[in-house]
Amino acid sequence: MALLEIKNLKVSYDRIKAIKNIDLTVREDNHCIALVGSNGTGKSTLVNAITGMLNYEGDILFNGESLKGLSTKKIVKKGIVQCPERRHLFDYMSVKENLLLGTYNLGKDRFITLDTVYDLFPRLKDRENQIAYTLSGGEAQMVAVGRSLLANPKLLILDEPTLGLAPIIRNHLAEALEKIKKHNVKILLVEQNVKWSFDISEYVYVLREGKISKSGTSKELRNDEEIRKHFLGV
Ligand SMILES: Nc1ncnc2c1ncn2[C@@H]1O[C@H](COP(=O)(O)OP(=O)(O)OP(=O)(O)O)[C@@H](O)[C@H]1O
Ligand SMILES: [Mg+2]
Repeated sequence: MALLEIKNLKVSYDRIKAIKNIDLTVREDNHCIALVGSNGTGKSTLVNAITGMLNYEGDILFNGESLKGLSTKKIVKKGIVQCPERRHLFDYMSVKENLLLGTYNLGKDRFITLDTVYDLFPRLKDRENQIAYTLSGGEAQMVAVGRSLLANPKLLILDEPTLGLAPIIRNHLAEALEKIKKHNVKILLVEQNVKWSFDISEYVYVLREGKISKSGTSKELRNDEEIRKHFLGV
């Protein structure tokens, strides 16, 4: 059975059709699926539909169960957690307080704890009492990912995590994601940085004007001419 199955998805904002009939599957044995596309192709719209923040036509199933009509809170409880674009930290709270916000929705059966997050991102341990708005962009992204992990997701959705990050910080994040996979958390990675996301994911969906224009294994698509031209500029 698929972990996540999106069927005939359509999302509109009034007259603007942002998502025009999308099918997408995350299988149980996938560790990381990437969804790539340029600005305004509907990536955030798609993930906001998954996490119950937008109404849609079609259906989204998680472990075979429809998520249609469920609140975001219920969807988080089922194990889908979104780390939003631009991080959304609470500026005047400390690193630790921001991280612990991820746990508010939980019962006792946690497997990812604050120590797991500090293990993944040692810089955050040193800065646990620092106020969030003074963090660098990379550190803020680590807090956002850590907070999402503390909600103990089965499926973690990252919306453009590399936005504004220097190459070295992107590398740190890539290493952390490799470790996250080992905690049996599946990742849906939304990115414009195609090269970076191909290195981490096994399977890729390419979004263009609200439709999937191409999909395949990262290996197959890495040398695809359209992708090289469109995203890699080579
Ligand atoms: N709340 C909204 N009201 C009206 N139109 C919207 C709204 N949110 C997004 N759109 C439009 O829907 C389309 C898809 O936007 P979306 O944010 O999903 O794209 P994206 O692929 O995430 O882009 P980016 O890479 O810039 O984040 C765009 O044309 C956008 O202007
Ligand atoms: Mg977006």
